[in-house]
Amino acid sequence: MTIQEEIRALAAAKKAVILAHNYTRGEVQDVADYTGDSLELARKAASVEAETIVFCGVYFMAETAAILNPDKTVLIPDASAGCPMADMITGAQVRELKAKYPGAKAVCYVNSTAEVKAECDMCVTSGNAERVMKTFAPDEKILFVPDQHLGGHIAGLLGRDYTLWPGYCPTHQMITPTAIAEARAAHPGAPVLVHPECAKPVRDAADHALSTGGMCAFARETTTKEILVGTEVGILHRLRKENPEKTFYPIVERMVCPNMKKTTLENLRDCLKNGETIVTVPEEIATRAKRAVEAMLAIA
Ligand code: 13P
Ligand code: SF4
Repeated sequence: MTIQEEIRALAAAKKAVILAHNYTRGEVQDVADYTGDSLELARKAASVEAETIVFCGVYFMAETAAILNPDKTVLIPDASAGCPMADMITGAQVRELKAKYPGAKAVCYVNSTAEVKAECDMCVTSGNAERVMKTFAPDEKILFVPDQHLGGHIAGLLGRDYTLWPGYCPTHQMITPTAIAEARAAHPGAPVLVHPECAKPVRDAADHALSTGGMCAFARETTTKEILVGTEVGILHRLRKENPEKTFYPIVERMVCPNMKKTTLENLRDCLKNGETIVTVPEEIATRAKRAVEAMLAIA
């Protein structure tokens, strides 16, 4: 039996569904039931019937699945797979920020801890942030945490002025406008896609700032044959698999999120076999965090 067959047999025996983020290793994406961006996986986690959800991605994603499914078992193959951006703000810091701006609405990017979500009025993902943020009145005071770049991107699109927490993604810091210019010179005419977690000069130098799910949709719909991709390189596996007639070039090959690579076929198999590590969120935090996540899912 191959390790892939072993994983599928264990998933069937344990009535488990395997969800994998678009940045995980190609072989992990291939063995999963569903692959997607944070929004697609949160939606899937909210609707699956399986008794167990195995989340191949980073910890906040598994936590979101646990928040939405208090009666299900959520497992993560490597519990040390964190997101440095999510760890750039604590619940106490959100409380301090809210105390400084009474009456303001606190909005968190889904890349945040359950404790931070519990302090917020609304959650967004990169795939729905514009749509969700449009539902706030233009004069509403918004505190956006933790990603300054996604927050700045949406504020710019909607012509609003948010108070931005200075968090950022170390992986998306690796791309520069110069790298984009060089990639354009090497592949003239190819559209440039970047993630909204990239800094403003990078977004300005690109053609589109899209979630990973948005990039997959763009690649499907475009008639262009060559596409330049400025995000974590794990996405290339799915882009190439779904669009074999098109060519995708990473703008920066070393744009790797080490935490997204922590899930391997071996630890995924062991996780299913041993039922570890279970992701739990204390009930009091989960109940409050769920409000922000469900408010988002109800809009988008
Ligand atoms: P997406 O929701 O676009 O997949 O982004 C998740 C993420 O962690 C980006 O760094
Ligand atoms: Fe976090 Fe960046 Fe990795 Fe996404 S790519 S999980 S934001 S560190």
